[in-house]
Amino acid sequence: MSRIAYVNGQYRDTREASVNIEDRGYQFADGVYEVCEIRGEKIVDLPRHLTRLQRSLGELQIAMPMPLNSLEVVIHEVVRRNRVTYGIVYLQVTRGVARRDHFFPIHTVRPALVVTARSLNFEKNQKTAASGIGVITIPENRWPRVDIKSIALLPNVLAKQQARDSGAYEAWFVDAEGHVTEGASSNAWIVTSDGKVVTRSADRGILAGITRSVLTDVIASLQMTFEERPFTPEEAYGAAEAFVTAASQIVMPVVSIDKHLIGNGAPGPVAQRLREQFHKFSAFS
Ligand code: PDD
Repeated sequence: MSRIAYVNGQYRDTREASVNIEDRGYQFADGVYEVCEIRGEKIVDLPRHLTRLQRSLGELQIAMPMPLNSLEVVIHEVVRRNRVTYGIVYLQVTRGVARRDHFFPIHTVRPALVVTARSLNFEKNQKTAASGIGVITIPENRWPRVDIKSIALLPNVLAKQQARDSGAYEAWFVDAEGHVTEGASSNAWIVTSDGKVVTRSADRGILAGITRSVLTDVIASLQMTFEERPFTPEEAYGAAEAFVTAASQIVMPVVSIDKHLIGNGAPGPVAQRLREQFHKFSAFS
């Protein structure tokens, strides 16, 4: 089945869809994106993702490409046309098309919007979660505005590849103070030996993950203890459990960090429980 993308006003076969070579996203990575999980043909936590999208756009002074309710219609239509029951929807907004010049375009240009959707393999993801993933740690080398979900992801891409080359799946950045910030494409968590669920505060150095924010509701409802504070790789090596969160993985157990086995080297009960319970607390639309 051919895949359909929404590209600047039209639904197109992805093999034929294209964007202008002077799109500022292409030339300057001047744009933002969102990734939402699709589950049971529904979009998970779309309102929170759209709120974050608006914030990212606002920080970069890029206008919304269309009213929010129209954007919701487009997103649902792309999911429907691609017949995705389980997978992800990706949306990207860039500043638009203008002759290459670092300054913002003088004349108002329309922000460019692309929406795609694709299926993921549910069984494969469940299997990965059942065995857990490996993580490496690397020095933080991104710009300080990682709170903006920008499409400028070169350090993240290099970090992910470095993880893969080391036989791991994710890389955790470590800041100048020696604390883990977040993963290259996920937020980082540990569980202490006395059962506290710990992640860094979202006010500095990380993206405020939507999965992260929903998970804090899950943790509160399950009456687990939540601690929002930074942690070091050394603390993580000795933690009872570790895991990462992202829309495409929800809660993914981590079983090794820099080749140190976490806990007994298998996914821990807290991460597994949070993964099982997560969708009871998310909004479907
Ligand atoms: N990544 N931190 C970074 C750097 C991320 O790229 C992501 C998401 C997260 C988790 O955010 P959320 O829970 O809202 O997905 C944290 C997406 C899935 C991606 O780039 O594919």
